[in-house]
Amino acid sequence: MGILAVCLGGALAAWGLSRVGIHQGYEPVQPIAFPHKIHAGDNKIPCLYCHYAARTSRHAGIPPASVCMNCHSLVEKQTVEIEKLKEAVQDLRPIKWTKIHNLPDFVYFNHSQHVLSGVACQRCHGPVEQMERVKQFAPLTMGWCLDCHREHAHVPVAAVPRAISTVAKNFNPVAGLDCTSCHY
Ligand code: HEC
Ligand code: HEC
Ligand code: HEC
Ligand code: HEC
Ligand code: HEC
Repeated sequence: MGILAVCLGGALAAWGLSRVGIHQGYEPVQPIAFPHKIHAGDNKIPCLYCHYAARTSRHAGIPPASVCMNCHSLVEKQTVEIEKLKEAVQDLRPIKWTKIHNLPDFVYFNHSQHVLSGVACQRCHGPVEQMERVKQFAPLTMGWCLDCHREHAHVPVAAVPRAISTVAKNFNPVAGLDCTSCHY
């Protein structure tokens, strides 16, 4: 607890100076105007087709251009933006997407823990399938995390994973409110 307090104290000082991570509504222009609306909305491509890592790891990840080319080597439509994709692939140049969501380093967040227990992407990211350009929907503050964790401390999201983790965690609430759930 002492060590935690010291770590948090240092983190708090650094964080107070910058507060780089909290940007609700942040909607940067991307190097290629990739529309989620056309892909995840109109063409109903599942989120996990591209963000496959969200099921198994901490980060949801951004798909490499080779995933885009699974379709765009076949899709006939050509636009300036699709041309940029093909040039990047031809030149073996990675696309430099601007990261929108950024939690500070002293917070532990893991996609798989949420996705596997049935929390929908949209609960945290909003209606991405309607967005031409992605914008940060949630504030990503500690209060925001805790509001949902309080709601799920007693109400199971998915009964089976909750039953298993409840036993494994010695009957602690599953969505933790302990400082050490998210800070260590
Ligand atoms: C065809 C592939 C594809 C599909 C399908 C897709 N995405 Fe994405 N997603 C991307 C790419 C590429 C980016 C990076 C460019 C951008 O931000 O628009 C991205 C970015 C994002 C970001 C912002 C990440 C950051 O920088 O913080 C979120 C959130 C996101 N996607 C959520 C979703 C959700 C939710 C769905 C399903 C409703 C979805 N995506 C479906 C390819 C995809
Ligand atoms: C419980 C809330 C929550 C859920 C559910 C959630 N995300 Fe996220 N997502 C976040 C947070 C918080 C971040 C910022 C993480 C960071 O900075 O380390 C993030 C970041 C991302 C990013 C940026 C790259 C990365 O992994 O850091 C993408 C892409 C993304 N989410 C897509 C998705 C998709 C797709 C789903 C559903 C399969 C999903 N998210 C479900 C909260 C959530
Ligand atoms: C599962 C198939 C699939 C994948 C994967 C995919 N796309 Fe697409 N994309 C499409 C389809 C279908 C269209 C619509 C074509 C049409 O309108 O005829 C499209 C359209 C587009 C457009 C044009 C949008 C407009 O304004 O008309 C861009 C840009 C684009 N995709 C970029 C990407 C990028 C970048 C990736 C990888 C991150 C990607 N796509 C991955 C199927 C896909
Ligand atoms: C929309 C609801 C929701 C939001 C928002 C949310 N969580 Fe969770 N979180 C859950 C649920 C439900 C679980 C339980 C998953 C399981 O164990 O089945 C969980 C579990 C966790 C766990 C692992 C279990 C534990 O508590 O020890 C961590 C760590 C965690 N969340 C961190 C975060 C952080 C950090 C944020 C904010 C950036 C956040 N969560 C936002 C719903 C949410
Ligand atoms: C469910 C996840 C979660 C839990 C549980 C949690 N925190 Fe946090 N905490 C966060 C997130 C996310 C941030 C960064 C965003 C922010 O500052 O609001 C944060 C930021 C902080 C900060 C930086 C100060 C600030 O407001 O910028 C301190 C100090 C802190 N937490 C202390 C604690 C203490 C003490 C506890 C236990 C009583 C706790 N946290 C429990 C997620 C959590």
